[in-house]
Amino acid sequence: MIMTKLVLFITIITLKIVLSQTQNAILTVYLNKSTTWENKELYSGFTKLNNNSTLEVDCVNLNSNISYVIFQAHSHLYNITLYNNTYVYGSYVKGTNVGLYSSIKPTIDTFFVMNSNAIDLDVYISIHGYSAKDPTPGGCNAEFSVPISPFLQTKYNKDYVLVDAAFPQDILDKNCNSLERVRVAFYQMYIYERNFSKEAYFDGIQKMMTMEYISDNGVFIPDNGLNMRRMLSAYPGTGSIYVAVAFSVANKSAYSVYVPTVSYACSPLEENGCVIFDDALSQLLCASLLFIGTFICYFGHRFFKTEMFLVGLASGGIVTFILISLIADLNRPALLGASLLCGICFGSMWLLFYWLYGIPLVSVFLATLNVGFLFSALIYHGLPGGHRALEDDANFWTLFIVLMLLTSLVLVSMTFVSNILCCSLLGAYAAVYPIDYYLGSNLKYIIINTVRRAVVPNFNHAVLSPPFEWRDSLVTLLCVGLAISGFLVQHYQNYGRPPFPPPPRSVRPVPVTIYGATVPSTERRPVTSRNSRSRVITERTALLA
Ligand SMILES: *[C@@H]1O[C@H](CO)[C@@H](O)[C@H](O)[C@H]1NC(C)=O
Ligand SMILES: *[C@@H]1O[C@H](CO)[C@@H](O)[C@H](O)[C@H]1NC(C)=O
Ligand SMILES: *[C@@H]1O[C@H](CO)[C@@H](O)[C@H](O)[C@H]1NC(C)=O
Ligand SMILES: *[C@@H]1O[C@H](CO)[C@@H](O)[C@H](O)[C@H]1NC(C)=O
Ligand SMILES: *[C@@H]1O[C@H](CO)[C@@H](O)[C@H](O)[C@H]1NC(C)=O
Ligand SMILES: *[C@@H]1O[C@H](CO)[C@@H](O)[C@H](O)[C@H]1NC(C)=O
Ligand SMILES: *[C@@H]1O[C@H](CO)[C@@H](O)[C@H](O)[C@H]1NC(C)=O
Ligand SMILES: *[C@@H]1O[C@H](CO)[C@@H](O)[C@H](O)[C@H]1NC(C)=O
Repeated sequence: MIMTKLVLFITIITLKIVLSQTQNAILTVYLNKSTTWENKELYSGFTKLNNNSTLEVDCVNLNSNISYVIFQAHSHLYNITLYNNTYVYGSYVKGTNVGLYSSIKPTIDTFFVMNSNAIDLDVYISIHGYSAKDPTPGGCNAEFSVPISPFLQTKYNKDYVLVDAAFPQDILDKNCNSLERVRVAFYQMYIYERNFSKEAYFDGIQKMMTMEYISDNGVFIPDNGLNMRRMLSAYPGTGSIYVAVAFSVANKSAYSVYVPTVSYACSPLEENGCVIFDDALSQLLCASLLFIGTFICYFGHRFFKTEMFLVGLASGGIVTFILISLIADLNRPALLGASLLCGICFGSMWLLFYWLYGIPLVSVFLATLNVGFLFSALIYHGLPGGHRALEDDANFWTLFIVLMLLTSLVLVSMTFVSNILCCSLLGAYAAVYPIDYYLGSNLKYIIINTVRRAVVPNFNHAVLSPPFEWRDSLVTLLCVGLAISGFLVQHYQNYGRPPFPPPPRSVRPVPVTIYGATVPSTERRPVTSRNSRSRVITERTALLA
């Protein structure tokens, strides 16, 4: 009795050891799921793939209507390798979202999914079956290593994401001579901002798998003149699913779906891989915007000279930033430092200009120009891509500047109210900028996209299509709330006061009462100027000489 138990025990232990040492697993799938026109998925499921192991997938075809299958495997963050039958050049593909084609004749290939990482992975496997009439995704491939490449490739840098697909093949086009027989449409879907979880990732992929889901969840990416490539503005930290669908031109109901692919536009595996302001100066500047913005939003008009300085600083800073980026290749801290210095110079000059001449209309004009810039940038940010005329830089910038000037002119025609409006709008946007940064929403890209358009080569081909999720709505609401309350508060503050504080060195005599109430008590210079008109002029002449 005891002997038998012992033997059983030892057998079980040995079996367990053998099992745990077996690195490779076999999965047999039966492709018996019924398919419809919108949903051609024959099989889907998660499989656990141990570290340093290979999964073998044997397919048993039970569906007489299909002529080829697209086998796809997805893993989160870590690369896997997919190959058919043999692991040789041209038969494997490596990445996180990979797929291969296999004809069902004579038999479906055996697929191997290899995990050469040191950790265990969850792999999502999906097999789609298509009929003989459907175009082959990636069938006329000319650039990827696998002869038939039904997958997409993404590359990114800090400014944009590139999504590439291989040409599909129409059934009537055996030699790939007439590529125009098939039309390819790209779609994208954002997953949650700053959510790098496996759940959100696989959930996103599943939502872009079949025609049915793509038409529900996908957003069309317009053609930007780059053939089988789409260029998209990068929003690091917001994952995006991309997929392409090949439609036959002759037969509207024949189509096939490429393997969806995901990009976060950054690498979540690296420490600080998804932080966009990774240097101390940027972070400091960003954080200080909260205070500066709030101040301008509520007190900008009252502290007119401070406002003049800050508006000058912002304009000078942005212009310098763009100019330096265009001519030199500096790293961001150096670029920001230089822009900040130039901004301070320009701000001081603008303040001096106001100090000397004190023409409110001209002074306010710069503030309205800033609002005009923000407005044009917002329009560009929200514009759907695919306007071929606007890909031309001359057209684009003409339109941009015209819009900016028009906004500015409309605003400047109502000087007093306009300055309060400008203060509250600019202040509100500046104040929510750091909030947006720390929350991970994407309103900061309103400005960044315009700067990218100015400095990044070929960015005219980029489709912006910015994500707009609950965090963005929150920040937008906050911004609008700040702007409205700032406007009302300033309007009330300055009610019954003269529209503009008298310029410090104005030659015009100014009554003390109004002046004392409007200008902060630190201003002493005008007292002298009020007393002797001629002295001021001599002083000014001396200054300019
Ligand atoms: C598909 O085949 C499997 C295994 O033969 C079976 O368990 C399953 O019920 C089948 N499903 C359908 C929808 O026929
Ligand atoms: C993975 O397995 C192979 C052979 O099974 C072995 O040679 C290699 O050292 C293993 N690598 C790791 C990181 O475990
Ligand atoms: C094949 O297609 C026919 C006609 O569309 C359909 O009736 C049949 O159920 C399909 N067979 C399978 C196995 O899906
Ligand atoms: C996955 O592969 C890509 C391209 O070969 C490479 O750039 C990337 O670093 C790899 N990722 C990991 C986690 O190894
Ligand atoms: C594996 O796939 C490649 C690319 O689709 C194909 O050229 C090759 O013939 C396949 N290998 C086998 C043994 O089926
Ligand atoms: C790798 O897998 C082996 C066997 O499945 C397991 O014993 C080991 O702990 C795993 N290593 C890691 C780093 O997960
Ligand atoms: C990410 O999304 C998943 C799926 O919706 C959710 O369960 C998870 O809590 C989210 N994680 C974070 C950090 O928001
Ligand atoms: C068009 O494509 C559909 C779907 O693959 C197929 O069922 C149909 O027979 C095709 N029509 C023609 C005229 O080839």
